[in-house]
Amino acid sequence: MNGQYVPHGVASVHVEDRGYQFADGVYEVIPVIAGRQVDAIGHRERLARSLRELQIDPPMTDRALGLVISEVIRRNRVRTGHVYLQITRGVAPRDHAFPVEAEPAIVVYANSKAAGGIGKQADEGVRVITAPDQRWARCDIKTVALLPNCLAKQTAREAGAHEAFMYDSDGFITEGSSTNAWIVDAEGRLVTRPVSHEILNGITRLSLMALVAEAGIEVVERPFTVEELLGAREVFLTSASALATPVIQVDDRIIGNGRPGSVTSRLVEIFRAYVASDNVDAAAGRTV
Ligand code: PDD
Repeated sequence: MNGQYVPHGVASVHVEDRGYQFADGVYEVIPVIAGRQVDAIGHRERLARSLRELQIDPPMTDRALGLVISEVIRRNRVRTGHVYLQITRGVAPRDHAFPVEAEPAIVVYANSKAAGGIGKQADEGVRVITAPDQRWARCDIKTVALLPNCLAKQTAREAGAHEAFMYDSDGFITEGSSTNAWIVDAEGRLVTRPVSHEILNGITRLSLMALVAEAGIEVVERPFTVEELLGAREVFLTSASALATPVIQVDDRIIGNGRPGSVTSRLVEIFRAYVASDNVDAAAGRTV
């Protein structure tokens, strides 16, 4: 674990390890049969590829990693079993975009759970079921499986932007990588995507809906396209960390006159008054 051999029971992960918080890491499982690693080179080659694809620096050379894996197998006296290896982007203060400083974190362990293909299951066969492929199609669940969100946020960061509004295969905006996306239409109505499996139902989103209802501002829940976003009168985003934040540019397009618009500025004021008020639970009881 991170350069040391430690007992399994004391090997632990930091709370801000990006693997733990964002699923921002890669792994391999290598079978060990009769004392030999099977397909070790193929597994290490795929590991190197996965690391490259995610721009995670390899924590050691391939040769050193091979030696570490052999040593872990030896120390655990595994003759037949498998090796589990995981590398994450490391420990850093929580932020979806890649940290500048973090050292990749590595864990290698081995156990004696034999591969099914050499035991009873190979002789007798197994049952399977069919299931919808929903990897990962449940964006409504506030899960820590956030790697795609991190990649979108990193793309935004590299473009000098604060956030990435993501679009679906039909060209409709779903949401931001860690925020909900809104536009203001020509009539001054707030437009945001209706809830479904495609977006997280933001608590700030719900809270804003409750607050603007009191202020007489209309909200329309409907999908909007990238074109509509680029041509919108105003654009803003919401989240627990952003509250309501005006967006003044999308890709190369300046929104309005490049300054927060009048409707969004009013929302910012509504939120300022809300957070200073006696009741700060506007979303409570609304359908999440
Ligand atoms: N993100 N959509 C996504 C994908 C989010 O991760 C978030 C929140 C939101 C807004 O939800 P809420 O209003 O409940 O914060 C929408 C938090 C702030 C984060 O991951 O840091």
